[in-house]
Amino acid sequence: MSTLLHDILTGGYGAMLARAEAGVIRSATHGGHGDAVQNAFTLCCFLFACACFVLSLKWLSAPTTARKGNHIGALGMLAAIVGALVSSEVVHYDWIIVGMVIGAAAGIPMALLMPMTHVPQRTALSHAFGALAAALVGVAHFYMDFGKEGTPPYVMAILCAEILLGALTFTGSLMAFGKLQEILPTRPMTYRGQNLVNIGVLSGAVLCGVALAIWPDQTWILPILIVLSLGFGVMLILPIGGGDMPTVIALLNSYAGLSASLMGFVLDNKLLIVAGALDGASGLILSIIMCKSMNRSFTNVLFGAFGQVQASQQQGDKKPVKSTTAEEAAQILGIASRVIIVPGYGMAVAQAQHKVRELYDHLTKRGVDVRFAIHPVAGRMPGHMNVLLAEAEIPYDKLAEMDEINGDFAQADVALVIGANDVVNPAARHDPSSPIHGMPILNADQARAVFAIKRSMNPGFAGIDNELYTLDQTLMLFGDAKAVVGSIAKELSDME
Ligand code: TAP
Repeated sequence: MSTLLHDILTGGYGAMLARAEAGVIRSATHGGHGDAVQNAFTLCCFLFACACFVLSLKWLSAPTTARKGNHIGALGMLAAIVGALVSSEVVHYDWIIVGMVIGAAAGIPMALLMPMTHVPQRTALSHAFGALAAALVGVAHFYMDFGKEGTPPYVMAILCAEILLGALTFTGSLMAFGKLQEILPTRPMTYRGQNLVNIGVLSGAVLCGVALAIWPDQTWILPILIVLSLGFGVMLILPIGGGDMPTVIALLNSYAGLSASLMGFVLDNKLLIVAGALDGASGLILSIIMCKSMNRSFTNVLFGAFGQVQASQQQGDKKPVKSTTAEEAAQILGIASRVIIVPGYGMAVAQAQHKVRELYDHLTKRGVDVRFAIHPVAGRMPGHMNVLLAEAEIPYDKLAEMDEINGDFAQADVALVIGANDVVNPAARHDPSSPIHGMPILNADQARAVFAIKRSMNPGFAGIDNELYTLDQTLMLFGDAKAVVGSIAKELSDME
């Protein structure tokens, strides 16, 4: 999972390479008389970078080696940039320096100022820039090298696919950023015949590509292809709700990788082919895992307008809920033997992870066995909970994946649900009419007692009621997760 998390966090090697490559317009095959030593050095750098990327993905697949994986990925990226810069194919450095300054001016504040909860939108922006670079390099090559009679159809087809994917990923990612940042309305925007219109626009762009492959000198077709692709990127995202954006971003990540890989074929750049393929494959795998964890299909995410249909679920008799105080919760937690904490999106919103660490410390000091149950789609991005809990330095071995821990809830004295909702909704198991029916959930309802921390009875992402809150053994702790967990920790500390 952390392999995939890395992909989301970094925005993908292929996309970044596309940006690096954007400064080097002449390709190895078309550059002419390059200096042999320089090019050999470039090749070595690229080979080293490929090895780093593969190792990085390997190491990122386990929490204990994830940091190392991130560092070696960054080292590989540095080698790739250095290799590209020293290549004898670089015509001049002026524009490259301008590009680097602009890139740094945008990238450094993005990295330093955007909080952890904003990583999905940060990633969306990274993809937008990477995809724009890939599309622009494609356009430059079209006008400089290929947009003329005699260009082999397969080269033109690859170039057009790169431009199409790059352009639609650019606008699609910007739209995803806007929805996640709530600059644009987050609700799905739908209209009758939308899918037909979308397919029409995409088919138009593909037809332009086919026409250019047949008649490469008809350069007037390219602007039409670009406009249709940019338009399709916008239209693709319109009907998708804000909550589905992380899945869509993973998919766009995959497109950006594919586009970079195609660019590698056009430029005869093996590094781009490898890195783009890694990027494309990991983005696709990630989106498949996310869909599976939500028990939804790609078509449902892309065309299902999730988040619109749930209003009807809210009708009907509401069962009463029981609430309690931090003091009472602390007393019960203090005498428990086994406690399973279930973190969710609310913990991320409240940034309660450090208070959770305090609570964990107090409980373990009292000899309570505390573990954390991690649902694959808890929160709003893959690995969201793992990252937050790692930030608070909660030992990795206390975090258990859903399959590993689900059987243990029945032996737990308390399940402490902190800002989680859909991932503990028992309706997913038994109610076929529920929108989340079939989604694997954490069996918090099987614990002897359940404490659920949230601010109100408002629903979570899926927009539906949660019967866990009305079970006999459940007590609600209403309030902001950080404040409530902090109060419980304080009560426990007073009891010491
Ligand atoms: P949700 O079902 O979204 O529920 C989060 C709960 O946190 C809400 O009910 C909310 O209730 C509470 N909350 C919000 N702010 C809070 C605060 N400051 N203090 C305390 N509670 C707060 O979260 P979940 O259980 O983690 O499930 C994740 C959902 O997102 C799933 O449906 C999943 O399919 C979807 N999703 C996940 C991903 C990934 S990759 N993780 C991607 C796309 C979609 P109140 O407003 O009453 O406080």
